[in-house]
Amino acid sequence: MTFTVSSSNSLPITSIRDSILALQAQLVEWRRSIHQKPELGFEETITADFISRKLQEWQIPHQTEIAKTGIVATIKGESPGKVLAIRADMDALPIQEANQVSYRSIHDGKMHACGHDGHVAIALGTAYYLSQHPETISGTVKIIFQPAEEGPGGAKPMIEAGVLKNPDVDAIIGLHIWNNLPLGTIGVRSGALMAAVECFRCIIYGKGGHGAMPDQTIDSIVVASQIVNALQTIVARNVNPLDSAVVTVGTLHGGTALNVIADSTTMSGTVRYFNPQLEQFIGERIEAIISGVCQSHGATYDLDYWQLYPPTINHHEITELVRTIANEVVETPLGVVPECQTMGGEDMSFFLQHVPGCYFFLGSANPERDLAYPHHHPRFDFDETVLSMGVEIFVRCVEKFFS
Ligand code: NI
Repeated sequence: MTFTVSSSNSLPITSIRDSILALQAQLVEWRRSIHQKPELGFEETITADFISRKLQEWQIPHQTEIAKTGIVATIKGESPGKVLAIRADMDALPIQEANQVSYRSIHDGKMHACGHDGHVAIALGTAYYLSQHPETISGTVKIIFQPAEEGPGGAKPMIEAGVLKNPDVDAIIGLHIWNNLPLGTIGVRSGALMAAVECFRCIIYGKGGHGAMPDQTIDSIVVASQIVNALQTIVARNVNPLDSAVVTVGTLHGGTALNVIADSTTMSGTVRYFNPQLEQFIGERIEAIISGVCQSHGATYDLDYWQLYPPTINHHEITELVRTIANEVVETPLGVVPECQTMGGEDMSFFLQHVPGCYFFLGSANPERDLAYPHHHPRFDFDETVLSMGVEIFVRCVEKFFS
């Protein structure tokens, strides 16, 4: 059977099998139930409970409370063999939902504004389907429900808790519902898909004083301003122009009154890049610039610099498997978008540092239905057609992986 939906640019979505289409109403119900009760990182107890009850109902063995709220479900096939993991993140954001929908968030100040509610529904649908069709698995499928992707990061503690071991995972796949792409498209890319996320916070110490007597002071605002400008030279003049990188100063605070020279000024910012070789480099350049500018003015500084997530880098072989499936599911060459890189970050990156795998984007925007707000927006919502599409893609990846 062929299931066709018109998206904004009239790309047809095809090739979702009847038995998965039949799950669509339930997928929507699960997603909306999770959407109504969003929980922040490492607090996903209602969500974990919901997942665990479903897995129990379907008699799928699973382990709960991994890295606080994470869950791993294990579905064994009819014969032993390789192990494929599927990862879904489950946390929400500290945003007040502005959508007026029947399933809007009932948790004040919290919202599933990134689509992780959909990721959980897709992973549950996949678990259910596979538990009903163990013949498609010659080996084991592990489904990883991961907390705290939005921060501080649940992937790393789950790996440390051993989710990739016993049985050892051979490959991993995961998807993000993606409103930057229209419904009916899939973003698949070998190599770097998403950027590394590094952060810094810096306090510049000068010497405060009277606004009319600057000669008796060291103006921390003037020093900080020169630093903000000088930091822009890192991307413009130090990073290879064929690499992409971002250095953003997001906050700058100093001073208490218009006629007082600020004793200290605080700034913070974020750094993004794809090339892992830039891992040390940009942070070192930032410190060198801060140190040099401070020294030239007689100011001092305290700098905190840390990496949140490494770049999300897809492995060629598994990416080709996903690309083949994507081309089958959206039966048009325009449906699979190769150049879908983003400077956003993801802690799927930690899983991909340990095992080969592929993370990909499932286009979900439908402007005709007013479902095209960006991720992390108080009016974010997506076209739920992607739910059965996501299950179809995961199931096909499983079938192809074990074939
Ligand atoms: Ni997200």
